Amino acid sequence: MFWSIPVALALASGASAHTSAFVKGMYCEGGPDPNNYNANSNTPVNPLWDLPFEKWWMQADRGCDKAPPPNGASLALPAGGKFTVELAHNQAQTTLSYNGQYAGEWPDGQNHPEDWHGPGSPPDCIQDDGAMHTNNQTMAAGTAWAISYNSDISKVTMDNLVVFSVLEHTPWKRIATYDVPKDLPACPAGGCYCAWLWVPTGCGQPNMYMSNFRCHVTNTTSTKKLAPAQPPTWCGGDSSKCLPGAKQMIAWNQATGNNVQVPNGASPGYNINMGFAPGYQILLFGLFSILEFFVCNEAINLCHVK
Ligand SMILES: *[C@@H]1O[C@H](CO)[C@@H](O)[C@H](O)[C@H]1NC(C)=O
Ligand SMILES: *[C@@H]1O[C@H](CO)[C@@H](O)[C@H](O)[C@H]1NC(C)=O
Repeated sequence: MFWSIPVALALASGASAHTSAFVKGMYCEGGPDPNNYNANSNTPVNPLWDLPFEKWWMQADRGCDKAPPPNGASLALPAGGKFTVELAHNQAQTTLSYNGQYAGEWPDGQNHPEDWHGPGSPPDCIQDDGAMHTNNQTMAAGTAWAISYNSDISKVTMDNLVVFSVLEHTPWKRIATYDVPKDLPACPAGGCYCAWLWVPTGCGQPNMYMSNFRCHVTNTTSTKKLAPAQPPTWCGGDSSKCLPGAKQMIAWNQATGNNVQVPNGASPGYNINMGFAPGYQILLFGLFSILEFFVCNEAINLCHVK
């Protein structure tokens, strides 16, 4: 029986391959149908492109908003620490499936050189049907996590879903470790909602990714509150022009619900061009002091130094 699995894996990779984060606590673990667990599911990896808000938000287009994590699982976010997830093209290529036997160093489970890149010089896109959406590691746009302090996910909004961590030059390898701000307060009893986010820069359709997770903050004594998130703005990496403080996810190239504008030819990503510094995000907590929020908005450079 077991020999048949690689055949199924082959079917699930190929032209429709893209990338998402896999970890216990994810929605759509085993696919969108809780009665039909599929260890070979690529449901969360498929991109969001030109969809109305109510379809792209939380991957409602494929029912992932209605498929909460099995067995009440939740992703632990240690305040001031780190958490690790697996970036892959398919659940089959992670440790969540088949005892991890198809999980390799890279998101596709295959072997690649350390400096994996596309053909030519300067390198063209990696020839993988746009699954990695990049020429090389340097060009990988960056991925991010956002949190909303709501256990009822119908209460999650663009304003209360705050980007808290960015990993630059990802997606790249399967194992991805993100920093957690030390001031994140504890979640309500039913946990928080978290989203894994990615907007690639070129190399294929300019789409976006938003996958759903239940999460909770551990090891925290913080009683601070997150500031309402503002739409990120293009600053082209010039920190004096970057928007400080709590930022929304990027909604881009959708039919409705877009929240960012960028210069012609540019692509918004979870990187310094949109004011997202690498690592845990600073100044998430503006509203714990109205004064501090005001000061930070008035004195942008000061806030960046903090
Ligand atoms: C990565 O690819 C880009 C685009 O082709 C190129 O400009 C850059 O030099 C490459 N970086 C490295 C380190 O090869
Ligand atoms: C909890 O936080 C303390 C300091 O804030 C740190 O030293 C410790 O390693 C953390 N424990 C875990 C399990 O993250």
